[in-house]
Amino acid sequence: MRRHLGRGLLGWRLLVVATLSAILPCCSDRRNIQRGEELFQENCAICHAVSNLDLKKQPPKLDGLFQSKTLPSGAPATDEQVRRTIINGIGTMPAFDQRLSSADVNDLLGYLHELK
Ligand code: HEC
Repeated sequence: MRRHLGRGLLGWRLLVVATLSAILPCCSDRRNIQRGEELFQENCAICHAVSNLDLKKQPPKLDGLFQSKTLPSGAPATDEQVRRTIINGIGTMPAFDQRLSSADVNDLLGYLHELK
């Protein structure tokens, strides 16, 4: 009887996990670094991976961004701050709120963390 109950519970648990993973968009908080790199190449590299742009203020290199305590602007080097920078823009850097979804920004942050 008890054994039977145990098996039933396991079955339920499997069912719940299977249902949840079907309902929730897969891995919504997991960062896809490869996609982050693609997004970076498409949206950011044009400024951040080249030098001598025709801009008054040259975009900073983003290698090791999260290794330092502060961003080039002096703001804290946190995910939240960098997310804000991407969404709102800063100085001559455009806002990406119309171009990138919050999942895109997550993937980008994942990639930026990989840049040592
Ligand atoms: C049109 C050129 C341009 C593009 C495109 C661009 N940036 Fe920037 N970015 C800049 C410039 C210029 C600055 C320096 C702004 C300042 O401090 O006035 C900057 C600064 C930053 C900073 C540092 C912010 C700080 O607080 O010091 C981060 C992080 C950043 N950009 C990330 C990104 C990411 C990620 C993308 C792609 C989604 C991107 N940028 C696209 C020009 C650009």
